[in-house]
Amino acid sequence: NQIYEGMFSPEQKRLPVSFEDWEKAANNLLAKHSFDYVAGGAGSEETVHNNRDAFKRWQIVPRMLNDVGSRDLRVHLLGHTFPHPFMLAPIGLQSIIHPDGEVAVAKAAAKMGVPMIVSTVSSKPMEEISAAADGSPKWYQLYWNEDPEITASFLKRAERAGYTAIVITLDAPVTPWKERDLTNSYLPFMLGEGIGNYLTDPVFCKKLGCDPESDMKTTIDYWGQIFGNPKVTWDNLSFIREHTNLPILLKGILHPNDAKLALEYGVDGIIVSNHGGRQVDGSVAALDALPEIVAAVQNKVPILMDSGIRRGADVLKALALGATSVLIGRPYIYGLAVAGEEGVEQVLRQLAADIDLTLALCGKNSLSSIDRSLLRRK
Ligand code: FNR
Repeated sequence: NQIYEGMFSPEQKRLPVSFEDWEKAANNLLAKHSFDYVAGGAGSEETVHNNRDAFKRWQIVPRMLNDVGSRDLRVHLLGHTFPHPFMLAPIGLQSIIHPDGEVAVAKAAAKMGVPMIVSTVSSKPMEEISAAADGSPKWYQLYWNEDPEITASFLKRAERAGYTAIVITLDAPVTPWKERDLTNSYLPFMLGEGIGNYLTDPVFCKKLGCDPESDMKTTIDYWGQIFGNPKVTWDNLSFIREHTNLPILLKGILHPNDAKLALEYGVDGIIVSNHGGRQVDGSVAALDALPEIVAAVQNKVPILMDSGIRRGADVLKALALGATSVLIGRPYIYGLAVAGEEGVEQVLRQLAADIDLTLALCGKNSLSSIDRSLLRRK
């Protein structure tokens, strides 16, 4: 209602509504290389399109005459209750998009009670982001460093700073083939934007040096130090388990056999994702991978999903196919680009309203009442 009422207030700032308009506005404001970094995907970007096409293959069949006067949008996940069925996906280097970066995002997320997942390659240090989130729930996303002591240090810091779960991103063992970034020669622009956690890490600084006067921040060697470790295997998960008591979720699972392995290795949750189509060109859409993974996991751990969520109906489709909650990526980053903290908050408000209204129009009054019977495959 608040959003519709806003139409009657002439002084209300007009921000975009549709995902497409947010994206267009962000495109108008950002430098080309920055916009391309966000919007782009791997290779021919077939997977970016696959992710959207997958949602169109499922159609909602609404039900009528159920009391939808009040709706329950809460989600229960890993011992916590969250007000909405979506979270903020980890996105690195946010100072490229807006000088306040992750701090602005954390404030907006906290206002809405939406959990934020903070990337290892955040522009701001995880402690500063946590403070900005003001007690609101947040998880920490780990890029597994080649040096185990640095990885252990990051885990310890996350725990101390009040993060309540560790998300290990598995689908980035190497830097992907991103043609827009290569065309724009983007790497030099990015260096120095994703090292907020590194320059504040005592172990990293002791080993590699964090002298602000040095040229470390702008060398290619440094880049090699901050992303994933391509050599890790399933057995290495025990290292993470030994170094944190927090729940562990694996992000980037697409194959049901990997979901089964995740269960064998005792993880606490799975995030079905293809990184927004940014890793393997031509890979399966995340939504298409979801049902087989749901079948393999048999409710043993919660399953989250991202890649292509743009509107309320998308969220309901993912939930109907068995996800407990979803993550959004580019939509909130476009909000950040257009209007900083206010823009992120508006994107979150709009998505929450869209989910609520669509749920009611489907004849449902709670998320727990959604299942496969809501959908028909086209
Ligand atoms: C990402 N993603 C990502 N994932 C991650 O685990 N760590 C990271 O640092 C990043 N960085 C990142 C930067 C940008 C610009 C984008 C767009 C994405 C992937 C992200 O968490 C998520 O999986 C996708 O963004 C979800 O897809 P949509 O919602 O963007 O389609």
